[in-house]
Amino acid sequence: MKYNYRGMTIYVEKDYEAMSKAAAEMLLSQVREKHDAVLGLATGSTPIGMYQEVVKAYERGEVDFSKVVSYNLDEYYPIQHDNDQSYHYFMKETLFKHINIKPENTHVPSGETKDVEKTSQEYDNAIYGLGGVDLQVLGIGNNGHIGFNEPAPVFAKGTGLVDLTESTISANSRFFASIDEVPKKAVSMGIATIMTAKKVMLMASGKAKAEIIAATILGEITPDVPASALQLHRNVTFFLDEEAAAVLLETLK
Ligand code: F6R
Repeated sequence: MKYNYRGMTIYVEKDYEAMSKAAAEMLLSQVREKHDAVLGLATGSTPIGMYQEVVKAYERGEVDFSKVVSYNLDEYYPIQHDNDQSYHYFMKETLFKHINIKPENTHVPSGETKDVEKTSQEYDNAIYGLGGVDLQVLGIGNNGHIGFNEPAPVFAKGTGLVDLTESTISANSRFFASIDEVPKKAVSMGIATIMTAKKVMLMASGKAKAEIIAATILGEITPDVPASALQLHRNVTFFLDEEAAAVLLETLK
């Protein structure tokens, strides 16, 4: 089902697989329309199914990434890029090594830099220099974070170092041997950086995301729910499965 709410487009798909396919179609259309598209990419478990669909389309010869450029949302800090928990590693294993994107055209914030402020500014300048990415892919944390912009008294502006909240550390501990191994900090694109994207797509799946999705789309625009800033974006599309859309649909129906 497709809904429109205050200028935002919302697709509600039956399950994770259908949501992944619908989201992949948007990403693939972007690259087919503009061969040198600049993609903003996310990690986490939610987009994995979408990336698998994108890889399948590439293997069928339906899309060419040779001119595509990418900027990822975030990276743990500090972390070595060859660490298998790093987002550099995740992107290589999940997507980059399976398609013909040029490694030099892919960008992920550095978890190795000694000067986070300088590299963050360079990261933002590169994105602002492009006039924003063409299509930004987002997931959402259970607490409403996008990128690693956690709930805070004010919206984070540009890319920079952030402290992860207990809720995020605990949610992400499922990928680590123990919770103590989860880094306590990350480098993340800021909300202002994300808002420069020409188009934004946010994916969410499962019951755990239902309340925060409703708050993001229907609630107050507040830095307590960082994703609520997207209500101010002029071109945003949500891809939800039925479980993630459950609370939202009580109001939209
Ligand atoms: C990842 C990112 C995060 C995740 C969010 C949801 O690059 O920026 O905001 O999108 O933590 O993670 P999953 O998809 O694992 O529920």
